[in-house]
Amino acid sequence: MVDQATLVVIKPDAIQKQLIGAVFSKLEPLQLEIVGAKVMPVSQELAEEHYKHIKDRPFFRDTVEHLRGLRHNVPCVLAFVLWGPDAIERVRRVTGATNPEKADPQSIRGSFGRNTADGLMENVIHSSSDVKDAEREIKLWFSPEELLRPVFSDERSPAKARASR
Ligand code: PPS
Repeated sequence: MVDQATLVVIKPDAIQKQLIGAVFSKLEPLQLEIVGAKVMPVSQELAEEHYKHIKDRPFFRDTVEHLRGLRHNVPCVLAFVLWGPDAIERVRRVTGATNPEKADPQSIRGSFGRNTADGLMENVIHSSSDVKDAEREIKLWFSPEELLRPVFSDERSPAKARASR
């Protein structure tokens, strides 16, 4: 097992349905460290950058709107960086498949997600899919100062960086 950091975003559909606790209760047994956490609005720029790999897909615009809370009238998401042994793969397993109808019924998406009539997957949570995505996404969503520890090999701790200024 190797220690890793992964990005988790609890999306507006989960917040609207008051599922934050239920979602986190499925992540907690993994016993990962919470090294970053915040409640935040998602700008158009952040959402488009986050989903840039699907910018040519027909569901891109709706997916961006969903992350921004525009479909649920929810002005924020909850973003976390979780750290620990094989965090990326273990969180993905608990997250479940992208399509809630195909996800393990006990996973977060299988339990709480849905596919809308207009073809959007409202799947409650985002989690990084691999090491490369995790690094890109964590750097996009969090500054090093917002994390309790350095999570990439090329980083000094924020405290050490401040001390040397
Ligand atoms: S890819 O290229 O399809 O493998 O991309 P993926 O990494 O799975 O991300 C797709 C994101 O778009 C959201 N989404 C949908 N995907 C597929 N089909 C439909 N209809 C759809 N609607 C929305 C999907 O939830 C993925 O976002 P995240 O945040 O990762 O769940």
